[in-house]
Amino acid sequence: MKWSPDLAIGIEHIDEQHQEWFKRADDLFEAGRERRAKEVIGELLEFLDDYTKKHFADEERYMQEIGYPGYDAQKQAHESFVERLAQLRRDYDSSGGSVNVIINANKIVIDWLISHISKMDRQIGAYVREQKGR
Ligand SMILES: [Fe+2]
Repeated sequence: MKWSPDLAIGIEHIDEQHQEWFKRADDLFEAGRERRAKEVIGELLEFLDDYTKKHFADEERYMQEIGYPGYDAQKQAHESFVERLAQLRRDYDSSGGSVNVIINANKIVIDWLISHISKMDRQIGAYVREQKGR
């Protein structure tokens, strides 16, 4: 599952990060499908986790800079996704590094990214355009 232009929210630096974010998720799930080594999958899971946190921190800083009114809802959504990834890491570790844990998480994670970007993040872009139009 790749990022596609219809997921663009119209804010360049956020769209770039979303593309990279998809790539990180795709790398992880691709490694799962290919049943790559535990170490590789563990590392990719950590990359995705790190990148997600970095991306959310940047996005939240930007929302604060522009005085975005939906900040709290976004922050909550971000926190719940970070927790979901932490759970995935715990499940992966406690399963002894089972590839199935990763494969089963694929759809849930990708669906979350798509739904979050196309519903919540898109509104940030709309807000910025509205402000500029004033
Ligand atoms: Fe967001």
